[in-house]
Amino acid sequence: MDDFTKVIVSENDISRKLDDIAEQIRTDYAGKDVLLVGVLKGAVMVMADLARRLPPSFQMDWMAVSSYGSGTKSSGVVRILKDLDTDLTGRDVLIVEDIIDSGITLHWLLNNLRSRGANSVEVAALLRKPEAVQVDIDVQYVGFDIPSDFVVGYGLDYAEKYRTLPFVAILKPEVYGG
Ligand code: IMP
Ligand code: MG
Repeated sequence: MDDFTKVIVSENDISRKLDDIAEQIRTDYAGKDVLLVGVLKGAVMVMADLARRLPPSFQMDWMAVSSYGSGTKSSGVVRILKDLDTDLTGRDVLIVEDIIDSGITLHWLLNNLRSRGANSVEVAALLRKPEAVQVDIDVQYVGFDIPSDFVVGYGLDYAEKYRTLPFVAILKPEVYGG
């Protein structure tokens, strides 16, 4: 399995960072019953590991959206493939994301969820690429700012592969024809 140039975020890095983020979330949302919204499929790992560090009154729900197809560039068009089961009226919502790249998905998602009458909608993202920093989106909790290389692992895929890796690694450009 020599498909990666290097591991940029290790299993240990992730674990320690999630401890920090969870502590901030517990403080910021003290006494509130938060709805964690995960974006399938990439956020599955970060959701599972973050949610287990949060109070058991917190709930989880899932959305599936598509902005990428199977390639490595955002198409700019976001479609809902699976919507939430939960009514957001009056809820404190925390979107749990794997990575913010162009920010297109998140920008769209924030507008969409805010229009449903939530009390608050914030974002926790494990990874953020440089391009996203320039987009005017307020991301409350960010794990790691990483270079703009295409990365895989810990939920992130290339053509549905590599999601199961316990770390985040840079995929060799040869693998995706880059
Ligand atoms: P954005 O709309 O460009 O911010 O991209 C959002 C989604 O694209 C993420 O939730 C990921 O599913 C996917 N994505 C962006 N960058 C990468 C990457 O480096 N590897 C794998 N998936 C990525
Ligand atoms: Mg993806």
